[in-house]
Amino acid sequence: MTQRIGIDSVDGGVCLIKQTGKVKCLRDKIEAQKEQLAFDREHEVHIGIAHTRWATHGVPSDVNSHPQRSGEGNAFVVVHNGIITNYKDVKLFLIQKGHKFESETDTEVIAKLTEHLHHLHPTYSFRELVEQVVQQLEGAFALCFKSKHFPGEVVATRRGSPLLVGIKTKTKLATDHIPVLYSKDSPEKVELKDHRPHANDIPATGFNRTQSTTEFLPLGDDREVEYFFASDASAIIEHTDRVIYLLDDDVSSVDTEGVLKIHRLKRSLDDTHAREITTLKMEIQQIMKGNFSSFMQKEIFEQPESVVNTMRGRINFDRETVVLGGIKDYISEIRRCRRLLLIACGTSYHSAIATRQLLEELTELPVMVDLASDFLDRNTPIFRDDVCFFISQSGETADTLMALRYCKQRGALIVGITNTVGSSICRESHCGVHINAGPEIGVASTKAYTSQMISLVMFALMISEDRISAQPRRSEIIQGLHKLPEQIKEVLSLDSKIQEISKEVFEKKSLLVLGRGYNYATCLEGALKIKEITYMHSEGILAGELKHGPLALVDRGMPIIMICTRDNVFVKCMNALQQVTAREGRPILICHKGDEEPQKYGSSVLEVPKTVDCLQGLLTVIPMQLLSYHIAVLRGCNVDCPRNLAKSVTVE
Ligand code: G6P
Repeated sequence: MTQRIGIDSVDGGVCLIKQTGKVKCLRDKIEAQKEQLAFDREHEVHIGIAHTRWATHGVPSDVNSHPQRSGEGNAFVVVHNGIITNYKDVKLFLIQKGHKFESETDTEVIAKLTEHLHHLHPTYSFRELVEQVVQQLEGAFALCFKSKHFPGEVVATRRGSPLLVGIKTKTKLATDHIPVLYSKDSPEKVELKDHRPHANDIPATGFNRTQSTTEFLPLGDDREVEYFFASDASAIIEHTDRVIYLLDDDVSSVDTEGVLKIHRLKRSLDDTHAREITTLKMEIQQIMKGNFSSFMQKEIFEQPESVVNTMRGRINFDRETVVLGGIKDYISEIRRCRRLLLIACGTSYHSAIATRQLLEELTELPVMVDLASDFLDRNTPIFRDDVCFFISQSGETADTLMALRYCKQRGALIVGITNTVGSSICRESHCGVHINAGPEIGVASTKAYTSQMISLVMFALMISEDRISAQPRRSEIIQGLHKLPEQIKEVLSLDSKIQEISKEVFEKKSLLVLGRGYNYATCLEGALKIKEITYMHSEGILAGELKHGPLALVDRGMPIIMICTRDNVFVKCMNALQQVTAREGRPILICHKGDEEPQKYGSSVLEVPKTVDCLQGLLTVIPMQLLSYHIAVLRGCNVDCPRNLAKSVTVE
């Protein structure tokens, strides 16, 4: 990762400080340069923009890190989350106009284009300039700009990527919303290709100046206010819990007086004309590591509580009823649908695999499970009577969001299953379930997975409520969910045993995870955890497919984990187990506590409590989470921030 920050410098330009490595390294560097930068001279330097980059275009390096810049003294600097799909065309145009590029990023075109348009229209305000720039951009972006020409000001905007404004005041805010200002006349989009060779020679025509029709309503008398623009609430929660989620094409600016404005070029049909200031429920302690060595470890151990939070207020264990408030008004429509589609990426996709069988059983509907990217690639046919579930921890994954919009356009009912209140997927869904797992910081998802599974199980229970024949099954599952938190604690107590096992495998090149039926999702999810944080090759294999290829990999040296619990595929799993041991494979077994039959074949055994078959994956996945964690520690990997990966992938 590369970190960079851009702040007003005392000489009037924008000073950029960059540092590869973690945010802490940048902080240390800034501390060391404090005097020189006049950080402590109050009111002189009070605006900065900073960025941690996950590369889309160009390798991670200093020159490719953000802010990207343009002009003398860093006249315009910009940080960007997202991807600009037409950057090549814009870059070509700017090169023809004499601009020189220093990075390989798509973002640099934004800084250069801003400077270019500033030369064309020197009278434009900072906000007007940004509005003109973003009209030229295609793709997804959340942007934050600073400029030496507009010291003390910052402008931020979004389209497709998340962006929020945090507001911190010393006294209570006098309002709970910020009105949206509109332009009387939308400026024409300038046709870049029509420009003449030298930008500076071009007269200031082509744009109509924008004018606000409404005066800004101030926040109150309290002018001692601080603003934070961020992609995610967890980045600012230590400063304030009051936020505004910006909508696509909102352009938000803070001026030298410290006044926040939100502006739009055009009214959209569904626009509310004001942006609500919401109070986050997130607590700072929730995102601190506590006594754990990493967020991931903390999040694994939080599961006895996080699963309770997912079920809280939704399941009545005495009456055996389930009510999901965010879906209940749509239940009859869902019951009449043609099919259910579950669409997601990564771990969230595995939660769909894990619950598909139960959904088919309890809803008696066809259930399709798709990776969002593949779903879009196939232009999958979607009908008005389809019900499409979009499962996403962050609620911002670009592939999942694109698939959501695709289905929404075709008239399907959209159900969001997310962990992030106010996220794009939340807002764009017709109805949905907040999984309430609490903030998940570790890039590798753990507690969100178990909470997503439980949310989907609760949905299956709710929709089958009036099926008399399903009552014994529903009752068994509800009672299984009741016991789950205690059983998770029991599995977590295997931690030291799992740590010992990790010592046997951490130096190996590869690890296979085998199972079938309800445990197949655990194989996929376990292998993903291993890949993500240990960089070891790992594959989740359906035990039924063993004989069709993977068996060739099996020998004495190949580490194999087999999940073999007493369910309707137990006998078939035992066959696979014997096929492995017959080839001198020495599997590590995950099986039911006290079940001696499979244990005879295991080199080591991890015994988990028995639960209802369709919930078993909630318990078998935890040893895999712990194993990946311990292997990563032994291999010296950064558990929370694995190389090349991001928690929320907001690019397609
Ligand atoms: C990224 C993360 C994964 C996550 C996936 C889907 O790839 O690294 O851990 O499973 O995105 O994220 P979502 O927020 O949509 O669940």
